[in-house]
Amino acid sequence: MRAHPASEAGSDDTSRRPAAEAILLVGGKGTRLRPLTVHTPKPMIPAAGVPFLTHQLARARAAGVEHIVMATSYLAEVFEPHFGDGSALGLHLEYVTETDPLGTGGALRNVAHRLHSAPGEPVLVFNGDILTGLDIASLVATHRASGADVSLHLTRVDDPRAFGLVPTDPGGRVTAFLEKPQTPEEIVTDQVNAGAYVFTRSLLDAIPAGRPVSVERETFPGLLAEGAHLQGMVDSTYWLDLGTPQAFVRGSADLVLGRAPSPAVPGRRGERLVLPGARVAEDAKLFGGTSVAAGAVVGAGAHVEGSTVLAGARIDPDAVVRDSLIGAGAHIGSRTVLDGVVVGDGAFVGADNELLHGARVWCDARLEAGSVRFSSDE
Ligand code: GTP
Repeated sequence: MRAHPASEAGSDDTSRRPAAEAILLVGGKGTRLRPLTVHTPKPMIPAAGVPFLTHQLARARAAGVEHIVMATSYLAEVFEPHFGDGSALGLHLEYVTETDPLGTGGALRNVAHRLHSAPGEPVLVFNGDILTGLDIASLVATHRASGADVSLHLTRVDDPRAFGLVPTDPGGRVTAFLEKPQTPEEIVTDQVNAGAYVFTRSLLDAIPAGRPVSVERETFPGLLAEGAHLQGMVDSTYWLDLGTPQAFVRGSADLVLGRAPSPAVPGRRGERLVLPGARVAEDAKLFGGTSVAAGAVVGAGAHVEGSTVLAGARIDPDAVVRDSLIGAGAHIGSRTVLDGVVVGDGAFVGADNELLHGARVWCDARLEAGSVRFSSDE
């Protein structure tokens, strides 16, 4: 295990030393993001101009992590050709693919043999779909200082109903894992599992092998029942689970705007990010954190706000695109209005359509001109 520069500099405070290695869970099917995940696994969908995973890898590297094992399953073959051995990011990356998906816990057990850490050393685990400003070194420091078996990043949310709740005692020790609350009385805390953990290595080796295991539903509650020490660390910096289309588009825009931290955004933060090789008409208006990928074309008079336009997509003159994701090679016709919409790769939405409120246009679908409106055409 190589030391972090801070400890090499002679600091006695070993509790601030970050873990040197991590596991990234990137094998999920990403069903809530379909049709974006039909051809591309969720962590590889571009956000602010690069595959989303690039932001997580760059943040981990900036926190001193050097060795990362990727647990892949769904569309596993696309990760390694893109990231290779990780040296371009200053990382040593390895890939382990599950033949059949093993769930979040099973995936951890399946890659554990690639770790270098000793049984008592900490190993970071990240869900591959979280955009956050979490202080990674501080989570590791909390783990070391508390002597916990597992430490969890917890975040506070305004509406906890969609999440599993993680109450803690005054010292931060986890007291329960509660399923999504159904009634107001069941909302006993606003703290939720934020998808980043530190495990003492030996606990990863103890997860049952060769069968699906959910770390959230089986491993954590099981450890708690056995009397293990699970420590929560509430960190209320930027946090977003990019599991749904609206959240994904929001996260990409926040990266472009500089609201979400990442060392990997390929350009200056601001209202727009236009990648080399994109063509944008002079009087087109791009704002609200819009990103336009290489080979995409935005026509005269088009308004594109808070949206992600992927490679080779085409937006014709006077179209209005708001809080939407336009898939690779998709084509949006003139004067068409899209608001909160996902258009799959290669789809065609002809002129003078109006699609709102979470509509999903499937990959390669064709909507002829003037086919759909949410309002009268008067
Ligand atoms: P949905 O199908 O939309 O719920 O998305 P998902 O499949 O990504 O599931 P979820 O968001 O619950 O997964 C959390 C993290 O674990 C994501 O980073 C997934 O890629 C990852 N993950 C989920 N299931 C598996 C699995 O069976 N194997 C591996 N290797 N990773 C998984």
